[in-house]
Amino acid sequence: MSLVDDLKKVYQEAEKDFDNVRNEKELEEIKIKYLGRKSYLANFPSLIKKLDLEEKRKIGKLYNELKEKIYQLYLKKKESLSTLQIKFDFEHPGKEIKIGKEHLISQTIEEIFKIFTQLGFSVVDYNQIVDVKENFDYLNIPESHPARDLWDTLWVKSLYSSSPISHFLFRTHTSAFQVPILKKYGVPIRVVIAGKVFRYEATDKTHDFEFYQLDGLSVSENSNLSNLRYVVEKFFERFFHQEIKVRFRPGYFPFVEPGLEIDLACIFCKQKGCSVCKNSGFVEIAGAGMVHNFVLKSAGIDYKKYQGYAFGFGVDRLIMLKHNIDDIRILHSSDLRFIRQF
Ligand code: FA5
Repeated sequence: MSLVDDLKKVYQEAEKDFDNVRNEKELEEIKIKYLGRKSYLANFPSLIKKLDLEEKRKIGKLYNELKEKIYQLYLKKKESLSTLQIKFDFEHPGKEIKIGKEHLISQTIEEIFKIFTQLGFSVVDYNQIVDVKENFDYLNIPESHPARDLWDTLWVKSLYSSSPISHFLFRTHTSAFQVPILKKYGVPIRVVIAGKVFRYEATDKTHDFEFYQLDGLSVSENSNLSNLRYVVEKFFERFFHQEIKVRFRPGYFPFVEPGLEIDLACIFCKQKGCSVCKNSGFVEIAGAGMVHNFVLKSAGIDYKKYQGYAFGFGVDRLIMLKHNIDDIRILHSSDLRFIRQF
């Protein structure tokens, strides 16, 4: 065999060997085998010493080319091993994956839905952005009515109209569902809804500008105030798993007649008076009453035949009382130290 054949054979073997390398250690061994001080290639110049100049030049050129190609085989393998290592280094210490959990508010809404389902209510849903009619007009709150001042409202400006007057807003209360749901399902009906509501107002321990409400609505030929009281008291009993003092007092809402405010005894001070109950011993928890004829009429329902009751709870306040949380704002704060406790 000629020296040229020998060189080519060495290159072919090197190709195979580098191909079979599986780790850095093997790679360095193969590199030494072909490019090290005692390798065939390192010794090669001495083999061609006796050749004449022309032959030396030819074979020397091939020798240099193959040596460089073998070095390139080495570099290529080194690079592919380092990317492999990034992908498959099983000994690299793992990163803890943080798993989320259902927020206390969502958990509570599920729990509330369960209780109301047991009490014969169906769960419905409705939009967070509603028509001005749904939030105000249908509910006996016309533009001129002072009750609109109760809810400083976040209006949604239309992208398609240059008019500064908008017909859409972030619902200020879940009661905005009443007329659309009555129109959709008709009567008799017994439903609850829960979700976020929005008001442009200053915050304190019991008020936020985004919070959650739960509204209930029962319309039939004989829904009455005693039914309302029974349902509300049964709900509290099942929700708090303990007796808790409930206070019903007259209250004004344009969409009910008569109207009620429902308060719960303050658990934070045992009714002695504190900053949560503003020294009154009670925390306002809901508005309620018999559905106003105006509302039934807005929904196209014969108010001489049908009557109904409605209620609207503050979900966050229920949570505060149940879990001894004395500031509503922590519920919406995304503080994981708080969220993970429940
Ligand atoms: C209403 O929103 C009426 N839609 C309730 C209603 C429904 C009355 C059906 C009659 C018939 P009010 O603004 O009072 O009413 O709010 C109801 C409850 O939401 C309050 O009792 C309170 O628990 C809670 N709430 C009101 N404002 C806030 C606030 N800024 N932050 C947290 N909770 C609030």
